[in-house]
Amino acid sequence: MTAGAPRGETTETTTSSTTTTSSAASDAAALESDLREGFFDDPPTLPPRWFYDEKGSLLFDQITRLDEYYPTRAEAEILRARAGDIVGAASTMVELGAGTCEKTRVLLDVFAGGAGAGGAGAAGAGAARFVPVDISTEMLFESARALATEYPGLRVDPVVGDLTALDGPLPGEPGGRLVLFLGGTVGNFDETQRAAFFAMLRGTMSPGDRLALGFDLVKSPQRLVAAYDDAAGITAEFNLNMLDVIGRTVDCTGLDRRDFRHEAVWNAEESRIEMWLRAVRDVRIDFPTLGRGRDLAAGEGIRTEIARKFKPDALVDELADHGFCGQAVWSDESGDFGLALVVVDQGA
Ligand code: AVI
Repeated sequence: MTAGAPRGETTETTTSSTTTTSSAASDAAALESDLREGFFDDPPTLPPRWFYDEKGSLLFDQITRLDEYYPTRAEAEILRARAGDIVGAASTMVELGAGTCEKTRVLLDVFAGGAGAGGAGAAGAGAARFVPVDISTEMLFESARALATEYPGLRVDPVVGDLTALDGPLPGEPGGRLVLFLGGTVGNFDETQRAAFFAMLRGTMSPGDRLALGFDLVKSPQRLVAAYDDAAGITAEFNLNMLDVIGRTVDCTGLDRRDFRHEAVWNAEESRIEMWLRAVRDVRIDFPTLGRGRDLAAGEGIRTEIARKFKPDALVDELADHGFCGQAVWSDESGDFGLALVVVDQGA
């Protein structure tokens, strides 16, 4: 894993046509592989990564501000209340899936101090290093640039990468790293993916390094469904947008968003919300480059996302199997959202 640009300097990715073409080709190859993996199963599935083109990222940003979507506000409340405990004596903060780094600012204020604070935070002047990791190059470098200005004492080393496939040790002093995985994204992994993710993380961290993990808590199905099927229809548009992304990314015929409707359902057995795109009429979708197609009868659905909801201690117990030791589990006042702080066992 290699870090990007140091504070104040940003490594721009080139926008030459060669780069654009090769990134379109690699997106097509990645999507074809995801289609092969899940689209021809019963039920057909598509991974949530295909929500996030530019429009999808803007829609997600709108979702986080919706009245019905409590997780972002609830997690921010925990971060504000526990910032000192979370940051502790960390010298490097690594944020996985950093995005705009919006939710992290409350921690960075403690870690590095803001411009107003003269840049001297808990890590001490000049010692604080922040490593935002994200797959979206443009947003990552834009955020890194903004942070470098806002926090003069902070060294910002952005890393472009898939947070589920990190290799090698994370940047920073072993034992002094704090890894942040916020927003409840851990709930978007199934059990197998979650176990693989925790094992991968453990492989990139050292004894004494800590992990702060945000996760959504089980609550009434009515509130959960409303959070994923808001009255203004923003989440519906977010879900349907995936079809536009697919239609643009790979060669296909018969794929039309007007043939589908958004659905969010609570699956009590699996303790998760599921987002579906349900066919409103019989459809036939073909992917010529895959040499495959499939029929969907009216009423059949494509599952586009799972969002698992946890009991407060469940993840700490799972993380213990991967060599992490629980330090704390907090929730917001209303008990809607949780944040677990764990440390890599000295003996692990
Ligand atoms: C990114 N992730 C944590 C969101 C969630 O709540 O599962 C994605 C989302 N999907 C619909 N609304 C929000």
